[in-house]
Parts: sequence; structure tokens; C-alpha cells
Amino acid sequence: MKRKADLVVTNCGQLLTLESPSPVPRRREALASLAIIENGTLAAHKGKIVSVGSPGQVEGAIQPAQGCIEVDAGGAVVMPGFVDCHTHTVFACYRLDEYEKRVTGVPYAEIAAAGGGIAKSVRDVHEMDEDTLRSVSRERLNKCISHGSTTVEIKSGYGLDLENELKQLRVIRDLASESSADVVSTFLGAHAVPAEYAGRSDDFISLLINEMLPVVVREGLAEFIDVFSEIGVFTTEEAERILRSGIEAGLGTRVHADELNDTGSAEMAVRIGTLSADHLTKISSKGIERMAGSPVIGVLLPGTSFGLPSLDFAPAREMVERGMAIAIASDFNPGSSPSESMPMMLSIACSHMGLMPAEAISAATYNAAFVIRREREVGSLVERKRADFLILDCEDYREVPYRFGTNPVKRVFMGGVEWNGDLT
Ligand code: NIG
Ligand code: FE
Repeated sequence: MKRKADLVVTNCGQLLTLESPSPVPRRREALASLAIIENGTLAAHKGKIVSVGSPGQVEGAIQPAQGCIEVDAGGAVVMPGFVDCHTHTVFACYRLDEYEKRVTGVPYAEIAAAGGGIAKSVRDVHEMDEDTLRSVSRERLNKCISHGSTTVEIKSGYGLDLENELKQLRVIRDLASESSADVVSTFLGAHAVPAEYAGRSDDFISLLINEMLPVVVREGLAEFIDVFSEIGVFTTEEAERILRSGIEAGLGTRVHADELNDTGSAEMAVRIGTLSADHLTKISSKGIERMAGSPVIGVLLPGTSFGLPSLDFAPAREMVERGMAIAIASDFNPGSSPSESMPMMLSIACSHMGLMPAEAISAATYNAAFVIRREREVGSLVERKRADFLILDCEDYREVPYRFGTNPVKRVFMGGVEWNGDLT
């Protein structure tokens, strides 16, 4: 029986389906496999993909519904929307003064010690009312979409008290309900120890576990919990305690790990079985080995190393060759990575971290979907997944990272509907 279709996209010069023989994150050689159909056609119905293949195959499989929309991709690349699985999109203000300091050599840690860094963004969120925070965050989310992100994970973590963490999480919830993008919420109350708890991190952890976490879970405001495990922030043991409380409360777990120092956090992530360990710029050889033998995905954040001149790039090439599953995300935040652009992240990942364009694309779509448990819905263009796809301004997918600093996204479709926002 023919399947009904209300959207048919023809003339896709390269249709990057990322179809996979098995439903697991791609590793090693498989990471470079984009399952491209030359001159492909894609059909969707009620927001879901119903057929993908050559024009003849799709024509034979579908029955256009009344009013079916036909889109001619004009020979361009068509690919899944980016799954940006690690962002801090809900923040109040940029931190331009710090940027000037950083580029002239003042270390991030020194800026933070003087009351800047995360603490500055916490003060900014405290001062901004919820409506304003929602409207500035909405603008930023739209910028993410205009650069091709159709699924965006957003973390709290600039509130650090019950009232302001909830304020951030409610903004994330509101964006999720009003935006066509799939917005996914993570509770990052353990982003820093707030100034008023300096030297009393145990008290803050108790507050977080006993008072903040239960409310966040009861109100259904987060699906995941994350912790910044780092020297001077939360020790690996503290991070583990917080994450285990998150597991007990029913949340999926993530961890900012081995970013500024090798603290053994990657190994801790493997031990407790988090969905991901993120950053990993300082991961040890042993950490890579442990992660390679585990299901934990390494989320690499190229924008952060680009934005912090003193930070190394994660050893992505080595990670892939040793069998780690990796994803790429923007880490969009006002400190280290003030960019919503996933294409730019791919450029950095290729030019500075040794990934091939095809590997970077899988990491930013198919593999990233697993990090936020959306692998059945997004990340590839196959039957039954959501019709979230991009028509690019190029004929060869390698142009995406190659032409850095330009936006290759020409048209964005989410749930089979074309986004009508501003693409500039
Ligand atoms: O993921 N590493 C910790 N947190 C953020 C930086 C946040 C900030 O500077 O505001 C990150 O890079
Ligand atoms: Fe982050």
C-alpha cells in the first residue's frame, strides 16, 4: 500500500540520510558514513518521514495527499537538522569586558577569581526578570535555528539558587512549548559554588540535592542533570554524589569533565554510566581507553577551545581511532563559546581537531541524538523519524566545514514544516 505524503522534496543533489545498519552511536570508520543518495527525494506526512530514496523509489512508495507541498531543492545538499546537545542558551548578557581581557592574555581562571566568569552571568540572571530573560533567550534560540539546529539542549546553571534556577528552567520549558525546534532541558544547578557558599560547598550540595532537585523533578522541569566537575568547582567525588542523586530522582546524567584539568572525571562518567562526558580537552590516555570501552559518548565542544585561547582542543582524531563514540555541540554560552553556529563548530572540529567533514557531520547529528535520548526521533533522515532537515546553499557537504564563518543554511524544515524565521 502506498503511504500518504503531504511534503515531497525533490532534486536533492546529495541527500545525507545517515541511515545506519544498527541503532547505536557511530564509532571508528562508521562515523564517516553519511549514507548519501545522489539526486535523492524525501517524502513526509504529518511531520514524519515516510519515504527516502531515488525519485523512482519514492514515487512508487507514496501517494501525494491533497495539497501536498513539493519543494525543489535545486541540486543542493539536504541533511538532517543539527542536534546541538550541549548549550547554555538561556543567559542574560554577553561578557564583552572579559573577552577583551582574555584575548590579551588574562587567564579565564583569573577573571573568574575576580568575580567574573560564571559568577557574573549568575548576577546578570538574578537581575533580569523572567519575561525579559525569555525574550532575549528566544532571540538566541532563533539564531540557533537559523544556523541549522533543529534540536537544542539547554542547561540552567546561571541561577544557582532555587528561585533563579527555576526561573531559567521555566524559560527553557516555555521555549520548548512555543518553538518548532525540539528544546531539551538539563538542570545544571551544580555549575559553580555560589559566592555566598565559598568554602562551604557541602552545604551547597545539600541544598542542591535536598531542596532544588526534588522541586525540579516534581515540576517536570528537566530531563537531565549535569555537573561541572573541575578543580576548584566540584570535585570528582562531589560530582559523582550529585549525579547519583540525579539518577535516583529519575534524571539522565551528563558531566562537564576534564575540561581545564585531567581530574579523572571521564573515568567517573564511565563508572556511573552517564549518557555523556563533555569537553574532555584534558582527558588522559586511560580516560580515552575507558570511554572507548563504554557506551558513554564524548561530547566535544570546539567553540570553547576556539573561544578560550588558553584551552587545548580535545584529541578528537585519537578518540575516533581508539573507538570512542563522539558528538559535537556548540556549548553556546556568554563566556567561552558565544556562538550559536553549528556549521562553525564543524569548521573548528575539522581544521583544528583532525576530523573529516563526514565524521563531524555524523557527530553533530546522528551521534548527538543519542546524548539526549532522541535517537529514535532525530539525527538521520529515515522513515518514522521527524522531518527535521536543512536545504543548504552548497552542492557538496564538505563545503559546510570548509567555508568557515558563513552560514550554509538556506531553508530549515522542522516536523515537515518550513521555518519562516530570519535566516541571516
Ligand atoms: O561549558 N565549563 C563550564 N561552563 C561553561 C562556561 C560557562 C561560562 O563561562 O559562562 C562551559 O564552557
Ligand atoms: Fe557547557
